[in-house]
Amino acid sequence: MDKIVIRGGNPLLGTVRISGAKNAALPCMAAALLTDEPVILENIPQVRDIETTRKLLAAMGAEVELGYGRAHHRTTICARTLAAPEASYELVKTMRASTLVLGPLVARCGRARVSLPGGCAIGARPIDLHIKGLEHLGAKITQEHGYVEATTDPQKGGRLKGAEIVFDKITVTGTEDLLMAATLADGETVMQNCAREPEVADLAALLNAMGAKIHGAGTSTIRIKGVDKLHGARHRIIPDRIEAGTFIIAAALTGGDLNVAGCDPAHLTAILQKLAENGVKTAVKADSVRVMGDHPLAAADMNTEEYPGFPTDMQAQYMALATQAAGTSIVTENIFENRFMHAQELVRMGANIKIEGRRAIVRGGTPLSAAAVLASDLRASASLVLAALVADGETIIDRVYHLDRGYENIEEKLKGVGAEIRRVGNIFPKRAAAPAQS
Ligand code: UD1
Repeated sequence: MDKIVIRGGNPLLGTVRISGAKNAALPCMAAALLTDEPVILENIPQVRDIETTRKLLAAMGAEVELGYGRAHHRTTICARTLAAPEASYELVKTMRASTLVLGPLVARCGRARVSLPGGCAIGARPIDLHIKGLEHLGAKITQEHGYVEATTDPQKGGRLKGAEIVFDKITVTGTEDLLMAATLADGETVMQNCAREPEVADLAALLNAMGAKIHGAGTSTIRIKGVDKLHGARHRIIPDRIEAGTFIIAAALTGGDLNVAGCDPAHLTAILQKLAENGVKTAVKADSVRVMGDHPLAAADMNTEEYPGFPTDMQAQYMALATQAAGTSIVTENIFENRFMHAQELVRMGANIKIEGRRAIVRGGTPLSAAAVLASDLRASASLVLAALVADGETIIDRVYHLDRGYENIEEKLKGVGAEIRRVGNIFPKRAAAPAQS
């Protein structure tokens, strides 16, 4: 299994280019199931979750072409016929976002069979709100053998029916799943308490380009007028705000001078505001953020919130920064109940962190020293990479397949701006197993 070895101490200098957003690309790929015409998606990141989605769609009978390289990062998906509208446990267990196919499949085919995701490293992560919403849209749902089956009533033409849906809790993929389903429902759907993440708005932009009639995506109320049919479209995926935020923190931590290019600073407001409290100096342009990290870091409390608040997907990286800030930072995780797995590994590197339920108390300013550490989930791995960049000596990060799920070419990108980083095979004996992946 691959490991990443990082020798800490180098400031990050130069320019790094941000890839397309994984969390926007995944629902957009699922949206291609809604039409029998080709959907062309550009700025697709080259990460493992995209490859998993390709396999998922191909297993149903869709033709998926993935092209990478200088001019590419493009996929063309054509779901002309869908022989098997199913998502197997084998795929759902490696990527929970696979459940995003539930809504589009039942809307297009009148039936869908999708494995329930089960538990994961960062919390329970049920899909009850996706299921409830589909029931409101008229789907009949049964659960058996670890799978959820959704069907429409053939007496009613096999179509879903527009409805009023109020989410009990804000859910990103739940909003996306039902948004896709409602585009092909008969009549109007009004969804309230929706996720306002830029990835939801990006999905709606694609769906509208495919002929859907969606208003209000990116706000908490979304209105969808169902249409008979959707057609093919071409769409460019938005930049990855979490990758951008990770590099911004990397620059601040290492005392570098880094231009984070090809991002959308409007999506980074909460992150940049928090970092300003930490004493990080940034210069924002239309599509880039320059981080001038040569300033002492100060502690600041941080709470994760739904967008536009501080993203839970940046909490682990923020904690790495807090270990090096003067003073005590209280980090409160409000979205997932068990998302502090990285804290124990940071402690093994010399950090002073105490966990009290949903709060982590980080006493900053302790020097970090290199160690062999285990990545437990995608963003936890990113936090270990950040800590390693400032640790004394050579840190070896195991289970980097988590990192590969969501960061394109991270070692090449970091190397390009001065980090000492390499990827290697099995170079140290196994430690005790970490909890299951997210
Ligand atoms: C998405 C992101 C993930 C991010 C998360 C929160 C993708 C592919 N993934 O995950 O990176 O960390 O948003 O910003 O976009 N919940 C329920 N019932 C449901 C659905 C969710 O109780 O049916 C709960 C979850 O357990 C969690 C909270 O709602 O506590 C938010 O989860 P949700 O927004 O659904 O996360 P994902 O969409 O899975």
